[in-house]
Amino acid sequence: MIYFDNSATTQALPEVVDTYDKVSKSVWGNPSSLHNFGEQAFNLLEQSRKQIADLLHVHADEIYFTSGGTEGDNWVTKGTAIQKREFGKHLITTAVEHPAIHNSMEQLKKLGYDVTYLPVDDEGRISIDDLKSAIRPDTTLVSIMAVNNEIGTIQPIKQPRRF
Ligand SMILES: Cc1ncc(COP(=O)(O)O)c(C=O)c1O
Repeated sequence: MIYFDNSATTQALPEVVDTYDKVSKSVWGNPSSLHNFGEQAFNLLEQSRKQIADLLHVHADEIYFTSGGTEGDNWVTKGTAIQKREFGKHLITTAVEHPAIHNSMEQLKKLGYDVTYLPVDDEGRISIDDLKSAIRPDTTLVSIMAVNNEIGTIQPIKQPRRF
């Protein structure tokens, strides 16, 4: 079989599966518990957070673990919109986002937010000029998937542009 669906789900590397298996069997305490077993899990969690932060060149307190993509999308979209509402209620996304983003945006619309859906070309790509024109003084969030989970299109996130 030749697998062409890596943008939706990528097979985990054997070392990832081995580590998951090892940790699940040996360090399964609740990291919020005060006993030694919990502390062991807490320390491993914090070590992982630091390792991921170092790889991404960010601070450890900028790394959050969620149960998956849907929870992460909901949390970031609604959390940002609500936290920044004093600066404005305009959000920008694209017409081809995952339902976890699209449905969150639609819920926010019902709460009085204004959402701009950027159009895409026949390869699913947005135009940076469209994005530039859509940004307003009251825009608080631009949420665009870097790589489309169904067709694999990479958005021009590296394209240099002066705003
Ligand atoms: C951008 C995006 N958000 C959310 C999801 C859903 O993720 P999960 O099944 O982990 O909730 C996917 C899955 O492909 C995705 O690509």
